[in-house]
Amino acid sequence: MENEPDPRRARILPSLLAADYGRLAEEIRRAEAAGADALHLDIMDGAFVPNISFGPPAVALATKVAPGLPRCVHLMLQHPERYLEDYAKAGATTIQVHAESSCDVAAALRRVRELGCRAGLVLNPLTPAAAALRHLPLVDEILVMTVYPGFGGQRFMREPLPTIRALRDAAPALPIMVDGGVSRDTVALAASAGADCFVAGSALYGAADMAAEIALLRRLADEAAR
Ligand code: DX5
Ligand code: ZN
Repeated sequence: MENEPDPRRARILPSLLAADYGRLAEEIRRAEAAGADALHLDIMDGAFVPNISFGPPAVALATKVAPGLPRCVHLMLQHPERYLEDYAKAGATTIQVHAESSCDVAAALRRVRELGCRAGLVLNPLTPAAAALRHLPLVDEILVMTVYPGFGGQRFMREPLPTIRALRDAAPALPIMVDGGVSRDTVALAASAGADCFVAGSALYGAADMAAEIALLRRLADEAAR
């Protein structure tokens, strides 16, 4: 189980989507050694999003090579409810389900907790905050997308910032994560809107010194949150 995060400090999650797939084990260890708070694993089915990534074996690999690094599994699947058990078995610590998925979202969130994982609910950039507020008792964190999911390396969208603010006001203690286009240039925007957890793919795996970049993102987010 994940350690209790320090609520005063921004949490930084490298997204494995941007890693070198020829050396996945080293890339996972690189994130751990660089001081990542957790690893973000993007699971895409080619239906919910127009791209296909990896599946439970990648999560199992992370569990094996970096057992101390929590695994945040972002399911971009039309039918996430069919695969929850597979990802829990592979060692997910958090399983995130999209509000826009074609399933009973509340039932899926309950099932994630039954499987012993933290339950995350994800909103696409223009999905209103109300779609998450109705599920608040069932979630351990909310992820607000700042790009349309499917690909790394896209531009950060500002449109979801008011949604982040509304969620922060409604749930002062809930972890609120952002994902998509997060970098040294955008992290403060999300942090000042109320986000406290930041996923970054290309900005971290593309950095010459991942540890320095994680420390920079954390500092910029912490300063913006004050
Ligand atoms: C997009 C994924 C993101 C992606 C972020 O569908 O959910 O996690 O890896 O990549 P960057 O940080 O490059 O935008
Ligand atoms: Zn993601």
